[in-house]
Amino acid sequence: MPQAERLCADDAGLTRAAALLRNGALVAFPTETVYGLGADATDDMAVARIFEAKGRPQFNPLIVHVTGMDAARAIARFDDAADRLARAFWPGPLTLVLPRRADSGIAPLVSAGLDSIALRMPAHPLARDLLGRVGRPVAAPSANPSGRISATTADHVRDGLGERVAAILDGGACPVGLESTIVGLLPDPVLLRPGGLPAEAVEACLGAALGLPDGSAILSSGQMASHYAPRARMRLNAESATGNEVLLGFGNVAGDLNLSPTGDLVEAAANLFGHLHRLDAMRRPIAVAPVPETGLGRAINDRLRRAAAPR
Ligand code: TXA
Ligand code: MG
Repeated sequence: MPQAERLCADDAGLTRAAALLRNGALVAFPTETVYGLGADATDDMAVARIFEAKGRPQFNPLIVHVTGMDAARAIARFDDAADRLARAFWPGPLTLVLPRRADSGIAPLVSAGLDSIALRMPAHPLARDLLGRVGRPVAAPSANPSGRISATTADHVRDGLGERVAAILDGGACPVGLESTIVGLLPDPVLLRPGGLPAEAVEACLGAALGLPDGSAILSSGQMASHYAPRARMRLNAESATGNEVLLGFGNVAGDLNLSPTGDLVEAAANLFGHLHRLDAMRRPIAVAPVPETGLGRAINDRLRRAAAPR
């Protein structure tokens, strides 16, 4: 395929992006978390192209993106807990894994044959505008080749998938910079992936602790040991660089790049993938300063541990 069309975030760009999606093409688009690699979720061939483009193992189910509760309820069954979470946090960086309706119209490949489905209502205005124009649910994993770090700018998408998508809708940098938090409700509340919404906020809303997935639960790709892997070797909890390492700093540990000089975890999350991309491009081993294990720090450390896992 030729290089992706770069589409501006204006009426013409959005019209073009929606037309491509409605014709079964892949379009990368910004959400508040990370860029998504979108396809019409009701079109099996379009969905299959996502796996092809990502080089993603087929057993990793995808998230379906919608703009409203009517569309969401047509796809999945919401119990009281799901209703409460949707009311509190949608649109926003929360994905719910719910029982899938038999007549949902969603391509089976989207949930890899499971009878559950992951749903999300993004808050990013461009994502919402685009979804409205498409008029169908859009399946979208993060817009990176499988096993690589997520894309938080249109340039990241172009570098990773530039010849495998029809178009990239350029909405600048993603404000959250970290994937959505995934909560399973089948029906017990389970934290499937920490992400842009702190798990504590979900627990406060439910008035209950989130369980952790048991061994028999579907292995979400976010749980594979070395999923978010830069090419470089990584060493965590480093106070300084040794040898030819580059140092990813946090707070007082300055580093070659710093996730947040003031120790702000929200800023660190927003910088995480961009900084990793830039350090990875230097083709040297990466040392990473300690990040506290609280709030968004849990999600950041989760990504860092995966990135550093032996492979
Ligand atoms: O912020 C995000 O969530 C971004 C943006 C584009 O929305 N999307 C994203 O998608 O991170 P992806 O495919 O990279 O991660 C989706 C995760 C995967 O780990 C997948 O296994 C899990 O969701 N998942 C999807 N459906 C599931 C299901 N039915 N049961 C359990 N896990 C599921
Ligand atoms: Mg991903």
